[in-house]
Parts: sequence; structure tokens; C-alpha cells
Amino acid sequence: MTDTHPHAFGDYQDAIYFDGLRGVAPTLPMRYAELETRAAQALPPSVLSYVAGGAGDEATQRANVDAFGRWGLVPRMFVGARQRDLSVEVFGSTLPAPVFLAPIGVIGLCAQDGHGDLATAEAAARAGVPMVASTLSVDPLETVAGRLAGTPGWFQLYTPTDRALAESLVHRAEAAGFGAIVVTLDTWITGWRPRDLATANFPQLRGHCLANYTSDPVFRDLLGKDPEQDPTATVQLWARLFGNPLTWDDLPWLRSLTTLPLIVKGICHPDDARRARDGGVDGIYCSNHGGRQANGGLPALDCLPGVVEAADGLPVLFDSGVRSGADVVKALALGATAVGIGRPYAYGLAVGGTDGLVHVLRTILAEADLIMAVDGYRTRADLTPQALRPVART
Ligand SMILES: Cc1cc2nc3c(=O)[nH]c(=O)nc-3n(C[C@H](O)[C@H](O)[C@H](O)COP(=O)(O)O)c2cc1C
Repeated sequence: MTDTHPHAFGDYQDAIYFDGLRGVAPTLPMRYAELETRAAQALPPSVLSYVAGGAGDEATQRANVDAFGRWGLVPRMFVGARQRDLSVEVFGSTLPAPVFLAPIGVIGLCAQDGHGDLATAEAAARAGVPMVASTLSVDPLETVAGRLAGTPGWFQLYTPTDRALAESLVHRAEAAGFGAIVVTLDTWITGWRPRDLATANFPQLRGHCLANYTSDPVFRDLLGKDPEQDPTATVQLWARLFGNPLTWDDLPWLRSLTTLPLIVKGICHPDDARRARDGGVDGIYCSNHGGRQANGGLPALDCLPGVVEAADGLPVLFDSGVRSGADVVKALALGATAVGIGRPYAYGLAVGGTDGLVHVLRTILAEADLIMAVDGYRTRADLTPQALRPVART
């Protein structure tokens, strides 16, 4: 309990126990189940349905989470892992921990004041954890970037059908200081989401989270009028431009858009990883969008080792189903370079604003750090597939 390492994330528990000696217990949830329950109470029903829901009967969404339970870490003794180093260098930045905030398109609506993109950027800055800022935000990307206060931010692009608009978004992201472009491939069309369908609820069609479009000169030219004056036409134009079913033929164009690191999100097949690598991307992002897009799929974690092998040394980002520090450690052991947190941070924001989000990140990082301490894994390099064994099914 006396570790003074600058990034001793496990120290968060010391702070909590010592507060307890003064009679102060945490007001924010310590268990994921409680976080979920309290977020469900805090969020308006339409936002909760959109965030918590997934595709079909949500079997893939659950499988993402369950997949982590099928792996167990093997503890090693006499290692004396008093100081752990979780840092990682990726896309030109050194991160204190191999964790980042996955892009969440309606995060803006998860905050009490309706400016969750800004609160998320502020939380990223406080925790030193990079934010991947979604194309779909309440506040324009330039304002979000400003709140990052130097903490790395990566811009996630939903590639519009209009190439000039795509170029404009990428160039704005570059000018705003984002350090990488993450192109999401699995969401040019919306997956079948019964929870949202049951209430005919689709936030963007109700005009939410379109600030990057309405602030864009190319979009405004295409609209030919002030978006404020005609919200219906604005949403109609957005719906027409949003989804671009990209093919491999588009990759050279995407690559030509930026000299920033280019990362492709939604890759689960080794052949796709290989081909993307050959096409000049700088990073592969293995994810099934948290089971929101296609039900009847594999847990993303099961796809990770094959993607890592095919990426052949390129950084591999991973998300889908990460709920705890233990999950982070397992994904690292299976080869992820950095691990994305999704729904948990949306819930943290809903429950406790920026403080709630920072708390969620600190709990995940503290647990990861303490597992590495207890199990004798000092650095990320020690976390290899050999650190894991399948858990026997009873
Ligand atoms: C409410 C919500 C909105 C999302 N919006 C985006 C988005 O705008 N862009 C994107 O690439 N991924 C988006 N995702 C997917 C996340 O980046 C990530 O892949 C997913 O949340 C991981 O699953 P998990 O949250 O169950 O761990 C969204 C996810 C959620 C829950």
C-alpha cells in the first residue's frame, strides 16, 4: 500500500479505504451491476434503450461479456511486481495505460446537461485516457478537442456518401488536433435493434447529435440553407449522406485523406486485417460494435487472437464486452495493444457526470493494476497468451 509509482492505478483503493477511516464511503458504484442499475434510473428511457440495447435478442452482446469468463489468468509467485508499468506507445503518443474511451455517438445525451461529449473529453483529460470522439456528437469536434487539453484524442469517422463532406470532416479533425482517424466500417446501415424499434426511437432522426454535420461548410452548402431554419430538411439530408457501404476499392481514397494514423474499426476476420494492413492502414480495431449491429455473431474476444496474428505487428485496438480491469488484462494477454471501454463509461457519465466517468476509468485501471500486482505480471510484455488458461466448464 506504499507504492509511489506515478501511475500506480491501484492506489485508488488506498484512497477509498483511507476515506473510510474518516467515515466516508464511496457514493459512486463500485460494482458494475450497481453502475448499470443506477444508470438505468438516471437516463431518460429513450437514451437508456439506445445505449443499453443491441441487435436482435442481444445474444451477441451478452456473448461479448461472457467470453471473458471463459479465460482465467494464471498467477505467478515470487515476482515481486511492486511496480507495474502499463504504459504503451501508440499512434505517436505514450499512454499511461493501454485503455481508451471507445466512440459513443449519443454520449452527448448521457450527461444531465446534454453536453456529454464535452464532459467525456474533460474526464479523458483528468484520467489521462484517450478519447475516440464520434462523428455523432452534440457539440462540434473542435469544441470537444478543446476540452481534451492535450490528452490524445482520435476522431471516429462515419464515412458519408459525399466524398467532399468526408474530406471536410477529416481535415477539420486534423486542424482541431486529433491524433488519428478511426474509420468505422460496420455501421453504414443500422442493425436490427428491437428495443429501439419497439418505441420507434432513433436519436439522430430526431435531430440529435448532428453538430458535426450542421457545423460543416460542405454539409451546409449541400443543404443550401441554415440548418436551424429547417430541421426536417437537415435530418433528411443527414439520412441521405450518412451511410456509405465502403468496399476495398475505397481504401486508397481513405488512406489518401490524411497523413494521420488511419485505423479501421470493426475488423474481426484475419483476412480483412491482412488486407487492411496491405492497404496501408496504421492500426486495426477489432470490435463487433458491442453487439449492437449484427446479432448471431461471435464474441469479439474470440476474434481477437486471429486478428492480432494477421495484423502482424500493427497495433490492434479492441473493444466489445469490456466491463472490468480483469477484462482489460485478458484482452491485453490475447494481444490487444489497447482496450476500449464502451457502455461502462456512458453509465458512469449518466450516474455521476465527469466525476462518475473518471471514477469508472479509475476503478477499471485500479483493478487491472492490482491483478497484475497479485498475479505477478509487471508489464504488458509479460501478458502473453501463456498467462491465460481456458476455464473448465462445469
Ligand atoms: C450508445 C452507443 C453508441 C455508439 N456509437 C458509436 C459511434 O458513434 N461510433 C462507433 O464507431 N462506435 C459506436 N459505438 C460502439 C462502441 O464504440 C464500442 O464498439 C462498443 O460500445 C463496445 O461494446 P461494449 O460497450 O458493450 O463494451 C457505440 C456504442 C454504444 C453503446
